[in-house]
Amino acid sequence: MRDSLLIKAAFSEKTERPPVWMMRQAGRFMPQYWEIKNKYSFLEMCKTPEIAADVTMLPVDLLGIDAAILFSDILVTGEAMGGDLSFTQNIGPKFANPVRTQKDIDNLEVNCIDKLQYVADAIKVIQQRLNGSIPLIGFAGAPFTVMSYLVEGGSSKDFKLTKLMLHNEPEMAHALLSKIATVTADYLNLQIAAGVNAVQIFDSWAQALAWDDYKEFSHRYIAEIISKLNRKDIPVISFCKGSSVFAPLMAEAKPDVISIDWNVDLLDIKKRLPQGVAVQGNLDPHILYADKKVIKERIYRLFDRMKGENGFIFNLGHGIMPDIPFDNVKYAVEVIKEFKY
Ligand code: CP3
Repeated sequence: MRDSLLIKAAFSEKTERPPVWMMRQAGRFMPQYWEIKNKYSFLEMCKTPEIAADVTMLPVDLLGIDAAILFSDILVTGEAMGGDLSFTQNIGPKFANPVRTQKDIDNLEVNCIDKLQYVADAIKVIQQRLNGSIPLIGFAGAPFTVMSYLVEGGSSKDFKLTKLMLHNEPEMAHALLSKIATVTADYLNLQIAAGVNAVQIFDSWAQALAWDDYKEFSHRYIAEIISKLNRKDIPVISFCKGSSVFAPLMAEAKPDVISIDWNVDLLDIKKRLPQGVAVQGNLDPHILYADKKVIKERIYRLFDRMKGENGFIFNLGHGIMPDIPFDNVKYAVEVIKEFKY
């Protein structure tokens, strides 16, 4: 696995072409996903290792991408800590017992990693299926993003309650973030022990934060998590929406790779990072709705820009939307895999 395109690019070593995988590649844009989803609830799928493995393998078998990502969700850590989690079609995730007071925070468990054993079991089944062909990426949510779901009780447009806690009750917010960070580091180490080949930390909603707040309430906990990981030969990818602004700070947490949103020129941002920090990104996922000639042209434009750079993993600036045509995603992967510098 150390010689795979993904791991070499993640460690900024030379590869014959950039490796490709896509955030949310194991999901709803695939008709085959729905064949499984129509039979089980989302959490049942995550918690049954054979089913989680089936879904993880869909983009591997149907798209031929260069890395698999574990089928799960960032909110399983919140559930393990005591959150009453459910997923409803068209509404998304819900925590029925939101965390809003010091007492709620005190009630959250930290020694709860055994409740996530099903993830380790899924990783073992997936690695048997992959049989050494491509690396498997494990992942977890970053403390701030997971906190936002726990505090709001679900998805939010403005993160009003979460930001109010940061601003009015910073000590409470730190107590909550610190608990989530402890669980997240244990959880990623559990995934590493079970056999993942890389890990990604998703801070999807960091862009809601002002620079100082990002530094105090997000970056600091990501740095703590990364410092605790058993990362020998396991690259750490740090993703956030907002990385076009935060990337130089994110680099201080010492990830191997920073996953960049689509607002910035990828080479420009890479040049602002320390030597040896790879970048992942950063096609606007909306390009995959466009005509095939546009898809090809934009992929070539990105590759042209990154020509000669080691440490480049092709990905989207954020996840694939559920209504993107499968055929377009497949086409994009073909274009990338045929590419030669
Ligand atoms: O990338 C992959 O394909 C691996 C699996 C994966 C899922 N969620 C499956 C999923 C990963 C890496 C995630 C991460 C995740 N989950 C994030 C961070 C990534 C990002 O896109 O920013 C976030 C914010 C969540 C929280 C979450 N889970 C939401 C907001 C939702 C529902 C709303 C929506 O449209 O995304 C989920 C549900 C979820 N997670 C689905 C899948 C395939 C859809 C479940 C269904 O079939 O209804």
